[in-house]
Amino acid sequence: MEADIRPAVREDLPGIVEIYNEAVRETTGTYDSEPHTIEQRAAWLEQCTAKGFPVLVAEVNGTVAAWGALGPFVERAGFRHTGICAVYVETASRGMGLGTTLIEALVIEARQRELHTMLAAVDAANDASLRLHEKLGFKRVGTFREVGRKNGRWHDVVYLQRML
Ligand SMILES: CC(C)(COP(=O)(O)OP(=O)(O)OC[C@H]1O[C@@H](n2cnc3c(N)ncnc32)[C@H](O)[C@@H]1OP(=O)(O)O)[C@@H](O)C(=O)NCCC(=O)NCCS
Repeated sequence: MEADIRPAVREDLPGIVEIYNEAVRETTGTYDSEPHTIEQRAAWLEQCTAKGFPVLVAEVNGTVAAWGALGPFVERAGFRHTGICAVYVETASRGMGLGTTLIEALVIEARQRELHTMLAAVDAANDASLRLHEKLGFKRVGTFREVGRKNGRWHDVVYLQRML
């Protein structure tokens, strides 16, 4: 699918929030259980920008079809070369390569920021996300048992890592 990958701006927030809230309602791609507001996400976007971490959108035919972000793994000085990424694709556009394109773009951003390694934390039953990351060279480094709780049950989380 042809997409324009570019840094997110405030005008993208309604699209970003809609895609995220779809994942909140329907997936284990996030363990948030309450929808986010545009105001919450505006503050988040400002923080990411202030800290120098990228938020990218995939624009298709003038609308935000997916977004991805790189954030700090741990906010302590010694972890400053380690990032953790997240990507969300609207339901109708999944399986068309947008997740792949966004993570590839985040890897470029991470290298430009001299990050040394990138992580992803993925629900152990989220086959699409596990395969997406593995296809892009992320290796499984471990599984945390029952650290997540959503929809009345426990969830295991797999951490994956790609050296940059
Ligand atoms: C997980 C997600 C980001 C994948 O993005 P996507 O754009 O659909 O993925 P792509 O089309 O780039 O596919 C990349 C690879 O993922 C795998 N994949 C994608 N969809 C899949 C599915 N439904 N089942 C199994 N594997 C799948 C395939 O290996 C695919 O590679 P291939 O096409 O060469 O076989 C997307 O499904 C999504 O947003 N899901 C809901 C939110 C979420 O789980 N986010 C991740 C949080 S960790």
